[in-house]
Amino acid sequence: MPPFINTPIRKIAISTGGGDAPGLNAVIRAAALSAIQRGWEVYGVRDGFHGLLLPEEYPDGGLIPLTRDRVRGITHLGGTILGTSNRNNPLKYPILRDDGTIEEVDRSDEIVRSFRLHHIDALITVGGDGSLAIASVLAKKGLRLISVPKTIDNDLDKTQVTFGFDTAVGFATEALDRLHSTAASHGRVMVVEVMGRYAGWIALHAGVAGSADVILIPEHPYDIHKVVEKIKERDRLGSKFTIVVVAEGAIPMGGGVSVVEHEAGRAERLGGVGEKVAADIHAISGKETRVVVLGHLLRGGSPTSFDRLTALRFGAAAVRGLEEGQAGVMVALDPPQVKYVPIEEAMGQMKMVPMDSDIVRTAQDLGISFG
Ligand code: F6P
Repeated sequence: MPPFINTPIRKIAISTGGGDAPGLNAVIRAAALSAIQRGWEVYGVRDGFHGLLLPEEYPDGGLIPLTRDRVRGITHLGGTILGTSNRNNPLKYPILRDDGTIEEVDRSDEIVRSFRLHHIDALITVGGDGSLAIASVLAKKGLRLISVPKTIDNDLDKTQVTFGFDTAVGFATEALDRLHSTAASHGRVMVVEVMGRYAGWIALHAGVAGSADVILIPEHPYDIHKVVEKIKERDRLGSKFTIVVVAEGAIPMGGGVSVVEHEAGRAERLGGVGEKVAADIHAISGKETRVVVLGHLLRGGSPTSFDRLTALRFGAAAVRGLEEGQAGVMVALDPPQVKYVPIEEAMGQMKMVPMDSDIVRTAQDLGISFG
């Protein structure tokens, strides 16, 4: 696929894939308005790529026209007006065979065919690591596309930050503020589980901003005895309560990640580490311990102004990039600019928390334990 394609664009489509994140609607609005200004027609694909793969399931044929009216007043809304999906990955689409087994098949050619059928000249895909992998295959098969990075976990490399992260951190910080009063009044340990499957950015940022005492993240396998030591030290110093923030992907030393479910065609579902940490703390220290799982609350609500602005910039930059002839790239925030990075490069690796970073060292200076 050449990096620049100069044939004229008349019609584009936008799809949102993977878990929702606050700011998706802002991307859709910015991309739609920028495209309409250029005289292009804009369509939204329903539910990730589902609208293209199974159009017969939708009364509107799986594609909705994104007019000025349709995208009015959506910047501040959480979720995505197009729908999304982190199941049924088109590269590993699960098909139930007669013998009851599930076979995973690659349906990317059908997506390409559907694009040609609808005379769509270019695609903007908004999504995380899974969507980038799909975008990379579609780009190699000749689709002119630009990806917009999305994840509340902030674990995509090559962009300084993704929209949704700031909103999630703000909500988690407020939750920690609120939990302090009960923890202090009862002299309890409060374990707060937040999202973050591969990287502990949400746990780290919210934990520091929300004055947690212990932060457990996937980048640093934790020793539960060190966590209990921290709790006992606080007890001795007169603080009878402890707030522990744990990322869903945190792992105990010598152990593995806590998995709830593994379903064909999608990433395994994580969960349960908060319960495990709380049970272990109680068993070792005898302290009264409670767990709060923030989970999908972190993905909901109105995006912060920072996330709205990032999302609007990404949506507008995607359309500008298409106009300039870019293809097979992801837009990325490289302050003060938004730039374009080849999708292959962006997919290369996850962005993990460096344990020698300033924010980790700040946490350590504040006396926060990483277990
Ligand atoms: O990638 C974002 C994320 O929020 C992860 O932290 C989490 O593991 C996953 O989505 C959960 O997604 P769902 O419950 O929608 O399958």
